[in-house]
Amino acid sequence: MRVGTTTLEVAPDQTILDAALRANAWIPHSCTQGTCGSCKLSVVCGRVDHRDSPEYTLTAEERERGMALACMATPCGEVTVEPIGAIDESIPRQPLRDHCGTVAEITEIADHTRRLVVDLDDDMAFNAGQYCELVVPSTGTTPGTVVTRQYSMANPPSETRRLEFHIKLTPGGVATERWIFSTLAVGDRLRLRGPLGQFHLVAEQTGPGILIGGGTGLAPLCSIASHALEHNLIPEIHLYHGGRRRADLYDVERFTVLAATDSRFHYHPVLSEQEWDGATGLVTDAVLADFSSCKGMSGFLCGPPPMVQAGVKALKRRRMAPRMIFREEFPAIP
Ligand code: FES
Repeated sequence: MRVGTTTLEVAPDQTILDAALRANAWIPHSCTQGTCGSCKLSVVCGRVDHRDSPEYTLTAEERERGMALACMATPCGEVTVEPIGAIDESIPRQPLRDHCGTVAEITEIADHTRRLVVDLDDDMAFNAGQYCELVVPSTGTTPGTVVTRQYSMANPPSETRRLEFHIKLTPGGVATERWIFSTLAVGDRLRLRGPLGQFHLVAEQTGPGILIGGGTGLAPLCSIASHALEHNLIPEIHLYHGGRRRADLYDVERFTVLAATDSRFHYHPVLSEQEWDGATGLVTDAVLADFSSCKGMSGFLCGPPPMVQAGVKALKRRRMAPRMIFREEFPAIP
């Protein structure tokens, strides 16, 4: 297969995206599940099998025009594909790899929320904001099917051997209720694939950064904030964390101490369904109330889709340039 100027091997059943990222040939992507459309590309030469590409992401007309979803399609023989749209060459590219690791910590940090820390057997290079796919141990119900779930790294990229994930319980979820919140224990071995995704910190921000997270959408923002502070990449960071109740927030003390000791960092926890001695209401409304203009700033949003969409709207309303708004949505997957 050829991706741009790179020629690479593709294994049977391997998707175009998986093969390309392992060969360090960048294809823009986000969900890797066929739902976001960001990995759409042109099949310039040859044929692909679209597999389970959903019609709502890749229409019949787009297939006719030779388009494909890189995260779903597999090549049928020799193919040449071209990513659609400009590729941001400033983003460091980290090759996708399979990794194994050992659970070093698994603790309850908020209501139905756990911190999972994994010591990898080998290093994994990643960009702050990226995620991994954890391989859920087979339940034996569907032989041959590999179930994976995506979780963002909360640790900075300087920690290449120890990954931290924040995981919310999904009732009935195969990864959460039946594994991470029940049988998974310190010392267990697990497999994962990463890094993935293009949520990232752009180099050399000149203005302050506003980071808005809902629930465990805080995880990639922790990574971004730590990385930015470590390398002095953003002059000022405003971290907003929204939850419904106090029990939904976590690491409050850690961020409060950090804000008191590092003048570049500001912490704003916000509750939408409980009165307390902090801010209340929607986290995006808190941003609107705190800033009369976001011109020259950058925004990073992660959480449930409605929160992310409201956040984008709020930042644009405060005149943040759309190209400086970066987003990652966490849809609920059982
Ligand atoms: Fe989202 Fe392919 S459709 S990455």
